[in-house]
Amino acid sequence: MSAIRILRGEYRGKTIKNQSFSLVSGFQTGARGGYVTVQNNGTFPNCPATIRIRVDAISDYEMINGDTIEQNTPVAKVSSFTVETEEQAMTRIRERFEILTEMSKACIGGDIRAMIVSGPPGVGKSHGVEQEIEKATLFDKIAGKRLRAEVVKGSATPIGLYQALYKYSDPNCVLVFDDCDSILLDDVALNLLKGALDSGKKRKISWLSDSNMLRRDGIPDSFEFKGSVIFITNLKFDQMKSQKLRDHLDALQSRCHYLDLTLDTMRDKVLRIKQIAKDGVLFADYDFDQIAQDEIIDFMGINQNRLREMSLRMALKIADLRKSFPLNWKRMTETTCMKAA
Ligand SMILES: Nc1ncnc2c1ncn2[C@@H]1O[C@H](COP(=O)(O)OP(=O)(O)OP(=O)(O)O)[C@@H](O)[C@H]1O
Ligand SMILES: [Mg+2]
Repeated sequence: MSAIRILRGEYRGKTIKNQSFSLVSGFQTGARGGYVTVQNNGTFPNCPATIRIRVDAISDYEMINGDTIEQNTPVAKVSSFTVETEEQAMTRIRERFEILTEMSKACIGGDIRAMIVSGPPGVGKSHGVEQEIEKATLFDKIAGKRLRAEVVKGSATPIGLYQALYKYSDPNCVLVFDDCDSILLDDVALNLLKGALDSGKKRKISWLSDSNMLRRDGIPDSFEFKGSVIFITNLKFDQMKSQKLRDHLDALQSRCHYLDLTLDTMRDKVLRIKQIAKDGVLFADYDFDQIAQDEIIDFMGINQNRLREMSLRMALKIADLRKSFPLNWKRMTETTCMKAA
């Protein structure tokens, strides 16, 4: 059984901080918010053997292995835990992506107002959200109706953000900012977002200076935002060095659900690639037999420390090379995808 350390949580009104438990099942959201299910093991006397600890987000707990508990860390009783097996890790990873799907659906349905998805490059953050947006907008697309969702990629200026928020201000509208870190790092943009995502009933945002651009497009100086917003980013909010930025991002994080996919170790990334390949979807567009697919995955595993990036995107790059250069793909990969030895 794997173990987790709850960084911040609550059980029956009692605060839990840095305590470890044997994990029964990972993060889920219920009517009263997020929770994880763990074994009590006598930590809370006269309570059930299996308990649900309330946590706000996945980032409020971390997986621990027997050999990674630091000394001096306050650790409650953990009856038995072992190093996480490959299978358990795959289940944990799959669960995270299932949560990404569920949370995306909830944002699209308007039940969740805002979500931040954070994780390393090329692991499937955009894919997971886009898939749900596409499903939700399919009928409107066919009917040629105005879409109630848009994915903004790359950069956005504060005024561009204001315009986008206006365009998608109706309930049931969703605005996705994918890799738009510039708006998370800009004071004016961040203040707009804070207004748009505030937890009060009315979320009114205003553009304070006079703007020809807004006037020309018939956009008012202030309006009420009733839509939902999803941010997808590589930034790790809790690890930002600048205190000013951290304060800003904390304010945003407190208004949003924060889903850190935490595929930070090499092992997790390799397992994610194996998992998607095993599901039969990663190389679906290639005419590869099982042997060819396994060869790519094995080659990536063997060269994990030499590849510039361990990601699904890298697997697809290597698949391209394998298709174009069936005899020479390993050499081509070494030259184009690996760091110099
Ligand atoms: N579940 C999946 N099934 C099949 N292909 C996938 C899946 N998830 C991701 N991919 C593919 O892997 C590649 C990388 O995924 P994606 O662009 O979603 O990564 P990302 O986490 O958003 O990366 P970045 O941070 O660099 O934007 C894409 O080509 C995508 O189509
Ligand atoms: Mg992306």
